[in-house]
Amino acid sequence: MSETLSGMKRTHMCGELNETHNGAAVTVMGWVNKTRDLGPLVFITLRDREGIVQLAFDDKTTSPEVFAKAKSAKNEYVLAASGTVSLRADKDINPDMATGKIEIKVDELRILSEAETPPFPVGAAGVKEDMRMKHRYLDMRRPEMQRNFLIRHKTNQAVREFYSREGFLEIETPCLTKGTPEGAKEYIVPSRVFPGNFYVLPQSPQQFKQMLMVGGFDRYFQLARCFRDEDNRADRQPEFTQLDVEMSFVDTEDILANSEQMLQYVFKKVIGLDVKLPLRRMTYAEAMDKYGSDKPDLRFGMEINNVSGIVKDTEFEAFKAARAEGYSVRGINIPGGAVFSRKQQDALQEFVKGYKAKGLFFISRADGELKSSLSKFLSEDELNSVADVFAAKDGDLICLCADKDAVALTALGALRGEAARKLDIIDKDDFQFLWVTEMPLLEYDEENNKWNAVHHPFTAPMDEDVELFETAPGRMRAKAYDVVLNGYELGGGSVRIYQSDIQRLMFRALGLSEDDINSRFGHILEAFKYGAPPHGGIALGVDRVVMLMVGVDNIREVIAFPKTKDAYCPLMEAPNTISERQLKELGIEIKAKPAQ
Ligand code: AMO
Repeated sequence: MSETLSGMKRTHMCGELNETHNGAAVTVMGWVNKTRDLGPLVFITLRDREGIVQLAFDDKTTSPEVFAKAKSAKNEYVLAASGTVSLRADKDINPDMATGKIEIKVDELRILSEAETPPFPVGAAGVKEDMRMKHRYLDMRRPEMQRNFLIRHKTNQAVREFYSREGFLEIETPCLTKGTPEGAKEYIVPSRVFPGNFYVLPQSPQQFKQMLMVGGFDRYFQLARCFRDEDNRADRQPEFTQLDVEMSFVDTEDILANSEQMLQYVFKKVIGLDVKLPLRRMTYAEAMDKYGSDKPDLRFGMEINNVSGIVKDTEFEAFKAARAEGYSVRGINIPGGAVFSRKQQDALQEFVKGYKAKGLFFISRADGELKSSLSKFLSEDELNSVADVFAAKDGDLICLCADKDAVALTALGALRGEAARKLDIIDKDDFQFLWVTEMPLLEYDEENNKWNAVHHPFTAPMDEDVELFETAPGRMRAKAYDVVLNGYELGGGSVRIYQSDIQRLMFRALGLSEDDINSRFGHILEAFKYGAPPHGGIALGVDRVVMLMVGVDNIREVIAFPKTKDAYCPLMEAPNTISERQLKELGIEIKAKPAQ
């Protein structure tokens, strides 16, 4: 039978002990990490949140009762141990353990909980993720996970410190609500009181935070839970946390300045990183043109260049055809890529085809000479001019793509990242922040033949572009911005429309009927009738911020109980069916056969 804590009090965390505690009487509690039974000597490493410490038992000095208990302890048993800290002999020092210079000579030991053999050893490498998620409480005992969540905790605390100091109020907004305009599919919750009616879980607190501004709160923030039913990726979960912010009487510059000060404060406080302000800025147009991405990773170069002008007179069929279609010829230069084998080049071809590009043309430079299958078609001058644009050095490989702008840019942008990963030139300790500004306001939805808001319909157009509503909606730029870190979109926001005439122009551009407008946005438009201050804000993905701080590449590593890519929780086995009685109460009849 397991024992109780009665009369025993923890004095130290396991990982906290070191040689300065030599001779101290201590009590520690935790999980058995490993046992080593050498007959007359038994060693147990005990693990808690702060680390691991060795417990030592010697049949000459330890009481027989304690010694027998030590011998019976197995991995993941929960123990309480009291004893004296003692320095290890030089030959026994473990340099790989933070507490490796000491051990505890135990004189009282209690087995607080026994443990069955776990489905996988805590900390073992290569455990399948489904298994880790099903037994998340075991996975969490790993030191890496403990550290991830400590950093997450510190991030939340630092965020709260910063915004409180800056006069922001933390206000919670509802999760049982109505659709928000973020554009993903929504999770819905049936109402018992109003059968046939549904709440919608918020994709973000967008409309609430705007109404908080109408309500005079002036500056708001919240660590808000958001829900989006979309395909999961490494940086996307159906349930995630936003650091959501809104401010009144501000314009773009105020929001950017405040947000980057927050990032500087939080990154310094949590991981000791010095973020230099102001953060670099780039317009959306420039980011797309140079990096083929609205969230460029600036830890490496390989910018995209347009060489259409240089090859404009060539008779080379592929370039000629591209020219006739109004396409461009663009490319990147992969430093050191000249060594790529034919097979590796073919892999790059396949890679860009995955982005709908037709393919790549290569030019390499070795021993000062340019080599290319294009040399049959381009003059030496043309080839040299192309190489000059890319400042190609010996050993470099220029990859050219002749395609529709959007296709060529996206494919080359992706190729840039792929090449950097392949060449392993990304410095993992580098943090390259960036504001991407002047995002497009509207995008054309070819399938449905209409304009959609890129951000959401309350995003203000840039003042100088308002007149384009009637003439060139696709060219309109928004007072919208994203903050990017190492190729990830950390956050995005905008200055909002608060004038009803501009809002009307926006709704008209989106082709919304009066009925649509009233049913979807009636409540906020009503609020705006009673005095809306100019306002704007931003939301950052907390999971992504923490993921980048701890240096992992999947937000599941920093979410305590994440879902699989099918939005399933193996631990709770959710989603699940509900009882007939509950369905009846909700007035719901299930027609489809429930998925297993
Ligand atoms: P947006 O939709 O750009 O803006 O979201 C803001 C930030 O939230 C994070 N994010 C996600 N993180 C994990 N999983 C997801 N599925 C997910 N979706 C988004 C990203 C993103 O940059 N209301 C506006 C903000 C505003 O205008 O103030 C909004 O939600 O890091």
